[in-house]
Amino acid sequence: MTPIETTEQIQVHDLTFKMYLPAADIQQKVKELSVQLTNDYKDKKPLFVAILNGSFIFAADITRACDFDSDITFVKFSSYEGTGSTGHVKSLIGLNESIEGRDLIIIEDIVDTGKTLSHFLKHLEELKPASVTLVTLLLKPEVFKHQFPIQYCGFEIPNKFVIGYGLDYNGRGRTFEGIYQLCE
Ligand code: IMP
Repeated sequence: MTPIETTEQIQVHDLTFKMYLPAADIQQKVKELSVQLTNDYKDKKPLFVAILNGSFIFAADITRACDFDSDITFVKFSSYEGTGSTGHVKSLIGLNESIEGRDLIIIEDIVDTGKTLSHFLKHLEELKPASVTLVTLLLKPEVFKHQFPIQYCGFEIPNKFVIGYGLDYNGRGRTFEGIYQLCE
């Protein structure tokens, strides 16, 4: 059964989390990012590439909030177990379509070390897209170890594990409308 999101603190498996970003703040940020993207992409027909699983809710919200013609596709990697990165990126679902000459907008829920995106960006270079832009809802700058630019970032957050709005802890917590931070 999915835990019910009624209190400031929630229990998921063995861990307790506290409210960190309420749903209204996230929706406001989605609106702001979509206005910027609409300004920048209104004359193009970009291909959104959403990175599963975590970005599925953010991707659904931001693609619908953007006011321009676009396509969307999905890829899936795995690098996290429990509350920590394994350091190894496995590709579980890849791109099926040609991206040569396309303007890509990669959608991430959270950039932590940046290892997942770095791995994906290297692969994309070989497929010759016209351009690649990154949009992430969350970024943990303290642990981000790579040099690539992140053009659209919702919130910079401390290096603490978070769940909700698509993000999970061992499969739980994705459907919370707000984002919750692990209690110390
Ligand atoms: P990176 O490769 O270290 O940047 O990790 C990226 C992926 O790790 C994200 O797409 C998430 O799936 C997962 N991840 C990183 N930090 C968190 C977190 O705080 N909560 C839940 N998942 C996270």
